[in-house]
Amino acid sequence: MKRRDGRYRAHSRGGPKRRPVYVQSVRVETKAVFLRQGRRVALRRITAYDQEEFLGLVESSRTLHRPWITLPGTPDEFDDYIGRFDGLSADGFVVCLAKRQSMVGFVNLNEIVRGVYQRGLIGYGAFAPNAGRGYMTEGVDLLLDYAFTELGLHRLEADIQPGNAASLNLVRRLRFQREGFSPAFICIRGKWVDHERWAITREMMDTRPG
Ligand SMILES: CC(C)(COP(=O)(O)OP(=O)(O)OC[C@H]1O[C@@H](n2cnc3c(N)ncnc32)[C@H](O)[C@@H]1OP(=O)(O)O)[C@@H](O)C(=O)NCCC(=O)NCCS
Repeated sequence: MKRRDGRYRAHSRGGPKRRPVYVQSVRVETKAVFLRQGRRVALRRITAYDQEEFLGLVESSRTLHRPWITLPGTPDEFDDYIGRFDGLSADGFVVCLAKRQSMVGFVNLNEIVRGVYQRGLIGYGAFAPNAGRGYMTEGVDLLLDYAFTELGLHRLEADIQPGNAASLNLVRRLRFQREGFSPAFICIRGKWVDHERWAITREMMDTRPG
């Protein structure tokens, strides 16, 4: 039972009256809780404990990420970044090497819409030390499986700038379908930028080859 102050009161099991036990209602997660594990990488939620490793990797990946994405660069920005992941409208994950647990990239699920849509918009990025090895294709694939099965989503979308060859290659490899082109679609650093619209549905997962 939840109390007014947000803490939880442990359920009584009957018997002699005992003092109630209160536990904090914090989300307790450790680094090793993998949601999905693939051949080489695993997927887990990002946590506050990831701050140092994440910021270090972002710093060493500036050239790879520019001009496609902007990521947190300071501890405050990292807090804001993970603060967006409420698990309802957005969720954040990291892709790790399955054996060593070090991060190779991240993948986010944004703009989750339930009801008759059951859709989400994915965003992702590799970290430079391990880019170009197929880890992100494997990691995003793990997210697709998790989102379609555990989260019950039906459709995942990716909006990609036409010049972003690495990202277009990634969604093609995963059998997303190009649904269209939206001119002046997203405002990035004050400029409206064209995007290709890619998507995959749960049904399309079932018809992917091998
Ligand atoms: C888009 C992005 C995540 C792709 O990352 P990536 O590291 O290239 O993706 P992967 O880990 O799946 O690696 C795939 C590449 O590794 C190669 N590769 C090398 N060894 C491989 C292996 N053993 N298995 C599979 N692929 C391998 C593949 O051929 C492929 O190269 P290609 O794209 O030239 O065909 C990365 O370029 C990035 O972070 N870009 C900046 C951020 C961004 O654009 N995000 C998306 C915004 S829409």
